[in-house]
Amino acid sequence: MGAELKRNLMSEWWRSMVHTREDIVGIDASIIMHPRVWKASGHLANFSDPLVDCKVCGERFRADKAPRAEPGADTIITLADRPRAEAAQEKIDKQLLGPSGDTRMRRDGKTLTGAKVGTQGYVCPNCGSPFLSDERQFNLMFRTSLGPVDPVGDMVGVVRKAIAEGADEATIRLRVEESLAESSVYLRPETAQAMFVNFLNVQQSTGLKVPFGIAQMGKSFRNEVKVEKFIFRSVEFEQMEMEYFVPPGRGPEYLEYWKNERMNWWQSLGIKAENLRLRPHGSDELAFYSDGCFDIEYKFPWGWDELEGIASRTDYDLGQHSRESGKKLNYFDQEATDPATGKQGWHYVPHVIEPAAGATRGLLAVLCDAYAEEPADAEGKGARTVLRLHPRLAPVKAAILPLVKKDGMPELAREIVAQFLDAGVNARYDEQHAIGKRYARHDEIGTPYALTVDTQTLADKTVTLRQRDDRSQVRIPISTAVEVVLAALREA
Ligand code: GAP
Repeated sequence: MGAELKRNLMSEWWRSMVHTREDIVGIDASIIMHPRVWKASGHLANFSDPLVDCKVCGERFRADKAPRAEPGADTIITLADRPRAEAAQEKIDKQLLGPSGDTRMRRDGKTLTGAKVGTQGYVCPNCGSPFLSDERQFNLMFRTSLGPVDPVGDMVGVVRKAIAEGADEATIRLRVEESLAESSVYLRPETAQAMFVNFLNVQQSTGLKVPFGIAQMGKSFRNEVKVEKFIFRSVEFEQMEMEYFVPPGRGPEYLEYWKNERMNWWQSLGIKAENLRLRPHGSDELAFYSDGCFDIEYKFPWGWDELEGIASRTDYDLGQHSRESGKKLNYFDQEATDPATGKQGWHYVPHVIEPAAGATRGLLAVLCDAYAEEPADAEGKGARTVLRLHPRLAPVKAAILPLVKKDGMPELAREIVAQFLDAGVNARYDEQHAIGKRYARHDEIGTPYALTVDTQTLADKTVTLRQRDDRSQVRIPISTAVEVVLAALREA
């Protein structure tokens, strides 16, 4: 079911970005690209998180996400239980504060007081301790090696030689890095860069005129310090990104356009408006080259969190790839006037607006938004759990249900399933348990339509069509069933 839901969400994105627009084309580039792509994009040098270990509870966390605290202020350390608090008290007193023999931390049950926040200005997000390791930069890209030669063998030789020469640790590390660099490649941490390096290729082969966009969706990989919240943050996930190339000076106008388009898209798939918001990035969050960025945030069960970023990236990306590759990534607009010369014909490096959404994260938002537990009516009937998925996202579009397993009803129901499958609509046959239980089962997986074959069907070739959301039922001829459901899916 999850696979179907994710595919449907991604197909909807592709449909809205590529199939319903003339100004955007899609590509499907490789996951492993030339390592110089990641040098040009800045991912090799800068795509890292500051990593810290707590010396009290062992938690490993990102310094930039840790709870802030005033240096020198008191902080309370809370462990999971009393025995752990006793062990932590002893460790802090004897090892972390130095072995003076005095008890300096005070313990009450599982909490410890007496510690002060250090100069780093944050504490452990798990226990509140200020006893932390130094920050280490940790690159988020997964590195692997390309080629038939085992890089470990080379590395051993390099280390042996360096030790024989009496090299220090930093030098040995540098030489190992140099030997690895020859064969190192990286799993892409985002789908975006392939669209920049293919900008000219796509523009020249399609003849598209700026403004136009290139879209790509697919797997990305990040060696996240902490995977969390089910599929919200994982090391392997799918993205849906689009790079929209515009003339210099028109970035702000198209940023405005795309932020509205993207908000509308999520809502068009049924996400409730009150659970979505646009958050502008403050100047402290903006990348140095960006002149504006918004996050679309969803109200997840734990609070507002990022679903998609929409960034105005100026000409930074094409400029970087152009410098690194030595190949100009310019566009020539023969009808426009060059603002520098006042003459007709303008060569320029396009600016970029990038709506970058998480497909895996989108799937989680869709699930959270659609889930509902409905209470029973006054007679105690009708309580149910229902997944109010947008019909086009629903994994199964129509459940085909014979009322009983006899009198030719199963055979007729199977014929109807075949008609749906022939039309490319994912329908499922279900004959297990009473009809009410089957409706409930399909409500739980979000099936928007159920068609029931009953005694009347045998006489007049009609079926009941039940709607998931209001549980209403109407009779329709079998001959129109596929078209009725297809029309409902189109109009939903
Ligand atoms: N090219 C820009 C870019 O990749 P990003 O904000 O790092 O921007 C875009 O990623 C989207 O990808 C995020 O808004 C989020 O939905 C999703 N995403 C990023 N890291 C993720 C992870 N570790 N697990 C799941 N989704 C992730």
